[in-house]
Amino acid sequence: MRILSGIRPSGQLHLGNYFGAIKSWIDLQEDNECFFFIADLHAITTPYSPKDLRDYTIQTAVDYLSLGINPQKSILFVQSTVAQHSELAWILATIASVGEITRMTQYKAKIRELGLSSASAALLEYPLLMAADVLLYQAEGVPVGKDQVQHVELARTLAHRFNHRFGETFVAPKALLSKQGLSIKSLQAPKKKMSKTDSGKGCILLSDSPQEIKKKFTVAVTDSENNIKYDPERKPGISNLMNIYALAKNISLEKVSQSSHGKSYQEFKQEVSQEVTKMLQKFGTTRQSWIQNPSKVESILSKGQHRAEAVAKTTMTQVREKLGLY
Ligand code: AQP
Repeated sequence: MRILSGIRPSGQLHLGNYFGAIKSWIDLQEDNECFFFIADLHAITTPYSPKDLRDYTIQTAVDYLSLGINPQKSILFVQSTVAQHSELAWILATIASVGEITRMTQYKAKIRELGLSSASAALLEYPLLMAADVLLYQAEGVPVGKDQVQHVELARTLAHRFNHRFGETFVAPKALLSKQGLSIKSLQAPKKKMSKTDSGKGCILLSDSPQEIKKKFTVAVTDSENNIKYDPERKPGISNLMNIYALAKNISLEKVSQSSHGKSYQEFKQEVSQEVTKMLQKFGTTRQSWIQNPSKVESILSKGQHRAEAVAKTTMTQVREKLGLY
């Protein structure tokens, strides 16, 4: 299958990005043709600083590589280096309706999450750029979190509509929801998802030191019952920790319930912290070697750009012909 997915370089990557996205990409690249990109054009739809954007773009590439995205197997590139993304997004805007775009729930959720008093028009049009990202490469599968399924559905609808009006051009993509459809929650506000823009004590960054990880888990918000039980509605804090523990240790939630029975919250927090530290340690060492070799990272991104561009150009030649563009 041809697969495509990306992450916005809107901050440093965290545990949610790893468990919710990159971990499954690493498995997918074994048997599929994968395109993984750094979604910098999406990152500029919400407030940002240009200097940070450049740093986070490189850091995201370093994180992809350190976590196990293999440039021999997958195409790794920066979205804005392939101009066809923006071109196709505009074309898709001509076949999408205003109603379809304003119905997307993510737009309102992002405004709420980021506490924006006014949003850019580009944030509203984000789903069209995302549809362009996917359709440009004729991707069949798009690994996404639950919150993005609606956008993949829109990409699918637009592919069908374009094909119907102008002739067979696009592959209609499907969302590949990560096994548990999981969402890692903030350690400080466990009803909200862990997020790059909330990068304080609630967020475990993939680059955090063992001390920082320990500190963040120690002060993680739980409830006053001191009873380790999986109940995301009533006990979101401890349930989130159980989820993280299960994923880091690669065991089921039932196993976690059994092994943590009778333990205090503090004891359990220590164990979660140790398990996450162990998991991230190997990644940290690899990360250092990539950081020390920026020209190698740049060369991988440049090769990725050329390979992605070749596919994107082929699609756009067809699109332009079908539309009657000069
Ligand atoms: N907390 C999470 N739990 C599970 N999966 C998550 N993802 C993000 N947060 C969690 C998944 O990571 C991928 C990339 O996300 P993105 O950066 O493109 O957008 P996002 O979902 O908006 O990520 P953040 O970290 O919350 O960034 P900001 O704060 O900038 O908005 C997606 O597959 C997403 O599901």
